[in-house]
Amino acid sequence: MKRQISIIVNGISHEILVKSNETLLDVLRNHLHVTSIKAACWQGDCGLCTILFDGVPVKSCLVLAHEADQKNLTTVEGLIMSGKLSKLQEAFIQNGAVQCGFCTSAFLLMGHYLLNQTKSLEREEVEHLLSGIICRCTGYKQIIDSILTVSSDFT
Ligand code: FES
Ligand code: FES
Repeated sequence: MKRQISIIVNGISHEILVKSNETLLDVLRNHLHVTSIKAACWQGDCGLCTILFDGVPVKSCLVLAHEADQKNLTTVEGLIMSGKLSKLQEAFIQNGAVQCGFCTSAFLLMGHYLLNQTKSLEREEVEHLLSGIICRCTGYKQIIDSILTVSSDFT
């Protein structure tokens, strides 16, 4: 059975017909072609499919598309403001926090969320909060350094 949903992705409204068992991950990648959202496990383990769902990080493979009806979704493209990378995106580049890049969108979105929650972050706290996302290039140090760099700009 199919159902019409209305979702806002990075400020743009979309009306989409979705199957009742279709995941938000599949709809974003396959219907809207937002391929910055990655996936490796499709069962909530890798965290690579993380997006912001009304501002809160969720693993989009664990959300049914119809649950996103009327919701505001943010992908990494939504972090760019007026054509400029965010401070966190710049920090990732400066710290060499991008290796193959497969995990980068998920870490940027989680980092963005953490910095919106609290400007003063401790390393252990960031390590713990990022533990649900896997980087197979073992780039965690540079990723955490980038988030802490932006955090220290606010303190
Ligand atoms: S694809 Fe969603 S957590 Fe791995
Ligand atoms: S940079 Fe390659 S998986 Fe993280």
